[in-house]
Amino acid sequence: MRYSVVGLGKLGASMAAAIASRGFDVVGVDVAPQAVAAINAGQAPVEETGLDALVAANTSRLRATMDVTDAVRSSDVTFVVVPTPSDERGAFSLRYATAAFEAIGRALAEKTEYHLVVMSSTVLPGATRHGLLPLLEQYSGRVAGRDFGLCYSPEFIALGSVIRDFLNPDFALVGEFDDRSGALLERCYAEFMQNDPPCRRMSLENAELTKISVNTYVTTKITFANMLADLCARIPGGDVDVVTHALGSDLRIGSRYLTGALGYGGPCFPRDNLALGFLARALGADAGLAETTDRMNRALADKLADRYANLVAPGTPVSVLGLSYKPASHVLEESQGLALARVLADRGARVRAFDPLAARSAAPHLEPQVMIVDSLREAVAGAEVVFVTNPDPAFTSLTAEMLQPARGPVTVVDFWRKHRGALDGAANVRYVPFGCLPSDDAAATNLLRELWGAPVATAH
Ligand SMILES: NC(=O)c1ccc[n+]([C@@H]2O[C@H](COP(=O)([O-])OP(=O)(O)OC[C@H]3O[C@@H](n4cnc5c(N)ncnc54)[C@H](O)[C@@H]3O)[C@@H](O)[C@H]2O)c1
Repeated sequence: MRYSVVGLGKLGASMAAAIASRGFDVVGVDVAPQAVAAINAGQAPVEETGLDALVAANTSRLRATMDVTDAVRSSDVTFVVVPTPSDERGAFSLRYATAAFEAIGRALAEKTEYHLVVMSSTVLPGATRHGLLPLLEQYSGRVAGRDFGLCYSPEFIALGSVIRDFLNPDFALVGEFDDRSGALLERCYAEFMQNDPPCRRMSLENAELTKISVNTYVTTKITFANMLADLCARIPGGDVDVVTHALGSDLRIGSRYLTGALGYGGPCFPRDNLALGFLARALGADAGLAETTDRMNRALADKLADRYANLVAPGTPVSVLGLSYKPASHVLEESQGLALARVLADRGARVRAFDPLAARSAAPHLEPQVMIVDSLREAVAGAEVVFVTNPDPAFTSLTAEMLQPARGPVTVVDFWRKHRGALDGAANVRYVPFGCLPSDDAAATNLLRELWGAPVATAH
């Protein structure tokens, strides 16, 4: 089987290189000349773990072009991996996909052999059948099912491990226009995936719904754990890790993505919730669950600034460690760390921020209100409060010795509770593990007494 991949971005370039690495000829297509040039020079067009080496190692099987007709002619299966950005309604826009499908349609007009087109970009139910399929038929003059096949088959990958995730998914999701299309794609996956995953075949619409359901379910689970963290921080002796560890032992629940901490971010999770909300409302269904998850997640930075307002008076020197949306990443989209730095600065704190990979790209979003520095040591120097927003390995070198209290101990709010060993108990540090409360907290104990204490007998 020969493959083409239309869209050589974070997902498409990795897919193209990964398929080539499994011994297949692949032609990549992009409208951006620099992406095409990079692939043809044996280099990664985007930053992704292992991609540079994989592209370089597979130059004999991988090439790129700006000509969709060339790519379709030189392949049997075309994956479409172009952006589907959120539109003003919260839905996924088809404007890039429309251009790609028109071009593929024109290319199919010149091809007599059967060709399979696979939409891999995230779209909402109905989009593949009613938004894209008509373009293929109109521009090719050919008939779906008879002359060409069509699938919707998204990938479940995380940035930073795209290649591994693509080749080793928990399951392959195949939405099919007809049996022939689905069977062919299932065979392709069996040929190049490494872990022999189960293949879930279904209608185009069920697959479109499954894709966003996975992300919205996971974000709901994350938000549930974050809600528990908030509760545990109000209960004497509360410890969210103790609670979620036990909770995750229930096989119906499971422990993955069940760590109470800061909320989720990144290019996919937040927008998938909005899109599910849009879809539900558009179809007359109740969108409450997705909307609540989204609302709680977006409110976190402000809520935390409220919560720690007593520590962060205007003018307080504050350090925010972590600006990307997850550890060891340069991606800033919908990052909670970035949002927290911004909110604290808006409320008058003197904020210094550090991130090992995202610091420079964060600068235009935060400066001049926030000072971006180049090292952990610089970031925490002189800070009265330090917020550690993600569990980046670069922060493990944070020691009590680096913290220089000007007046009283430095408070370290550790949202992922990774620094307990290094900081808890140090003389110059007040360590605050997020989602925990000391058992002797008098105010919290009084609140519970008021709730449950035996009524005090009154004299008659
Ligand atoms: N990045 C992720 O983590 C991830 C995960 C799952 C799903 N997805 C989905 O995959 C899709 C692509 O995401 P991405 O992160 O790779 O996007 P991206 O922005 O990194 O890359 C998209 C590429 O497509 C190219 N392009 C745009 N229009 C084109 C056209 N008409 N013909 C050829 N190339 C075209 C762009 O130049 C760009 O190189 C989106 O729908 C996204 O939701 C992404």
